[in-house]
Amino acid sequence: MKKEEIFKSYQDWIMPTYTKMPLIFVKGKGMKLVDIDGREYLDFFSGWGVANVGHCHSAVMSAVRDQVSKLIHLPNNYFHPGQAKLARELIRWTFPGKVFFCNSGAEANEGAIKLARAYGSQFKDRPKFEIITFQNAFHGRTLATVTATGQKKYQEGFEPLVEGFKTNIPLNDFEAVLSAVTDRTAGILFEVVQGEGGINLANKDFVRKLRKLCDDKKMLLIIDEVQTGMGRTGKMFGFQNYDIVPDVITLAKSLGGGLPIGCMIARNEIADTLQPGKHASTFGGSPLVCKASIGVFKAIQKDKMLANVAKMSPYIFEKLKKLQAKFDVIKEVRGIGLMIGVELNAKGKEVVDHCASCGLLINCTHDTVLRLMPALNVTKRQIDSALRILEAVLRRISHAS
Ligand SMILES: Cc1ncc(COP(=O)(O)O)c(C=O)c1O
Repeated sequence: MKKEEIFKSYQDWIMPTYTKMPLIFVKGKGMKLVDIDGREYLDFFSGWGVANVGHCHSAVMSAVRDQVSKLIHLPNNYFHPGQAKLARELIRWTFPGKVFFCNSGAEANEGAIKLARAYGSQFKDRPKFEIITFQNAFHGRTLATVTATGQKKYQEGFEPLVEGFKTNIPLNDFEAVLSAVTDRTAGILFEVVQGEGGINLANKDFVRKLRKLCDDKKMLLIIDEVQTGMGRTGKMFGFQNYDIVPDVITLAKSLGGGLPIGCMIARNEIADTLQPGKHASTFGGSPLVCKASIGVFKAIQKDKMLANVAKMSPYIFEKLKKLQAKFDVIKEVRGIGLMIGVELNAKGKEVVDHCASCGLLINCTHDTVLRLMPALNVTKRQIDSALRILEAVLRRISHAS
């Protein structure tokens, strides 16, 4: 298909739900994406944090190749070794508990919300069902998760929303959480680093207090690790930076190395609330996606990616802070591991567009925050190249204004 034909087909036949850049990609390898004209781009966006191990990592490709010739899908009323192996790996890296497999982040959070309600319904005298969430959260686009997200821009036109949520509590404001909690509160759902909300970090003291509060009040501490999971923050899971153990975590995005898989993991006594018939997903945890995901775990370990994040994170932050000293337009550089936000005093779209035209893919979240999330095996040389482009773009824009 020619370029114009592709653009036209999208216009004619695909729902216009995404703001798109006029870029058509046909190949990817590691940190590179290749467009239809053969031009290479350095990918510091990673598809909203899907490509943590880079595009088409050999461990993922060989796992998928091997599995695709054996069995792609199996209904969940049968057993498969791949799902068992992936569950074992997930539990090994997290906490004693059980996994439910699904296909996306929203679905994982939807499951966690149902689990919290099912768990809360066991308090027979006064069942618990309310979920508390935070300002600038993002938990997905289903009705319950868009309600949990709490932001008008994602909700308008879809009302009535789902009942039983207290949203928009300021992150890191423990007093505000205390005033929102009632004897009906079943759980607190949050991201330890808000991704879509602009790379905002929950602080350690706050998270520890939430843990204790949940213990005291018999509520579930649910951490949405859809964006922070699989090494993005330098630990395999974001919560591991906080010295606490949550009751439930949700994962998706990078878990499948590009294939659609999500899951929730819950401590044993909570997980067992969901007995047969209570929850399901036709495609959840198919042999193919589980094998891909095992490939992702192998890739992270074999290529020592967590150690690489520990090295590259201070390197890129130091360079970005130097850029901040040079350009007034940079208000703040923040983040953890390789989950990085560069907040501007201006809208970020222009910077993102100019970077793309110079061969660097980044994105902008929350209007003014440039988000950089390279693959976990990014090299110093790739960081240098990316920041050279970013600097040139910032210089051009600063001169123009
Ligand atoms: C923290 C978080 N939770 C949930 C989601 C929703 O995931 P999905 O798009 O796979 O439904 C996202 C997506 O950006 C996310 O960042």
